Amino acid sequence: MARTVHPAGPRHADDAPGAASLFRPRDVNVLDPAIWPVSADRVDGVVTLGGVAVTDLVAEHGSPTFFLDEDDLRSRARDWAAHDVDVYYAGKAFLCTALARWLADEGLGLDVCTGGELAVARAAGFPAERLEFHGNNKSTAELRRAVAAGVGQVIVDSFDEIDRLAAVAAEAGVRQRVLIRVTVGVEAHTHEFIATAHEDQKFGFSLRDGAAARAAEAVLAHESLELVGLHSHIGSQIFETSGFEIAAHRVIGLAAALRDRHGVELDEINLGGGLGIAYVSGDDPETPKQTLERLIGIVEVECATVGLRVPRIAVEPGRAIVGPSAITVYEVGTVKPVTLDGGTERVYVSVDGGMSDNIRTALYDAAYTCVLANRRSEVEPILCRIVGKHCESGDIVVRDAWLPGDLRPGDLLAVAATGAYCRSMASNYNHVPRPPVVAVRGGVSTVIVRRETEEDLLRLDPGFTDPGVHRV
Ligand code: LLP
Repeated sequence: MARTVHPAGPRHADDAPGAASLFRPRDVNVLDPAIWPVSADRVDGVVTLGGVAVTDLVAEHGSPTFFLDEDDLRSRARDWAAHDVDVYYAGKAFLCTALARWLADEGLGLDVCTGGELAVARAAGFPAERLEFHGNNKSTAELRRAVAAGVGQVIVDSFDEIDRLAAVAAEAGVRQRVLIRVTVGVEAHTHEFIATAHEDQKFGFSLRDGAAARAAEAVLAHESLELVGLHSHIGSQIFETSGFEIAAHRVIGLAAALRDRHGVELDEINLGGGLGIAYVSGDDPETPKQTLERLIGIVEVECATVGLRVPRIAVEPGRAIVGPSAITVYEVGTVKPVTLDGGTERVYVSVDGGMSDNIRTALYDAAYTCVLANRRSEVEPILCRIVGKHCESGDIVVRDAWLPGDLRPGDLLAVAATGAYCRSMASNYNHVPRPPVVAVRGGVSTVIVRRETEEDLLRLDPGFTDPGVHRV
């Protein structure tokens, strides 16, 4: 069956893939401040981040590398935390101990959704009461670890899990705070693989068939569980708040029904994450302030309508915090013009990474912005396609990029807004080691995730670690 491909970048699924990139920019050397990290600049022609030239960064750390602007990240986290709303950063966007520590410093909570993400949070010493644990198939072992760690909240996603968690909490002698993940039936205008609150998918309890109300009743029936609130997450890379409005309306409707039926007033409504960022010029996301003020207003109005006390509001931004803070720098290996049917030419520029460090273009037809980073050039720009080094023709990093016509092997390319869902979704396809993440601030660069080596990969292979097996 053919699947519909929507660009995850643009606002609506009907936009043509990469359409924004087909408009030739007036000056391809310019860094659009809406897309690049706050400290990104061009000094003597060379792109700099955190006060360091990318040429120096690559000389020290190699390529490809994710460079993360720590000041940009921290200021974004601070902007989200500056409101009377609980902010849980969604660790799936990107997580390592350094990032967890910065977020803890800035007063945020953390959303983890696997034992692995929980392990990173624990290794960072993240305050357990500010952790929430997500996932549609948490194992008993993961639930035991989460409960033993003292996570603040578990967002339950199935009747199986409610029973499992109740038993685990009872065994540990604790009363675990729980939110119900509600499927609100909103179709967010984004790629179908990252839209999550429509009915026909795996997450949550549906409102439509009454499962969400029954889940709340199941939680209330367990002594070892405390029903704290309701949760909804409608999707990702969303530019309009109308979906959140409908979600809040429906979730608060359920909260009112639970009050009427069971006399419980819930403490919290969590509206999830999903707020979009600018990947290409013209993308115009709201600021955290605009978003949060609007969400607070929506919840207040909905609560007033049904006569509910306004609960604590929580959100879970991932991409909107870390996405714009990092760039990927690649080295160009080959520049190959290819003549298309009709005689036009497309220039394929191969870089030293690809779909193993950014799967989003292949998976969602996502659009990115890319510049020549090691020098300025006034040579007439050409329309290029930036591709990786993997054995697959869909291995595309940037579908359409205008770059100077004198682009050559050895040049460095910087791709913007790669902080979210690039390193965290990286793979070892073709046995390519995953790139490091290097934080840059005030002229100093620090490795926060080291580069994987071929030896790291070989260590998983018994033929390498045990010379007695599998040798020809
Ligand atoms: N909360 C929940 C329950 C989620 O499932 C997610 C994302 C978030 C929060 C954070 O969403 P954000 O603010 O980062 O959009 N790999 C896809 C995105 C998948 C998102 C999955 N859940 C991508 O690269 O676009």
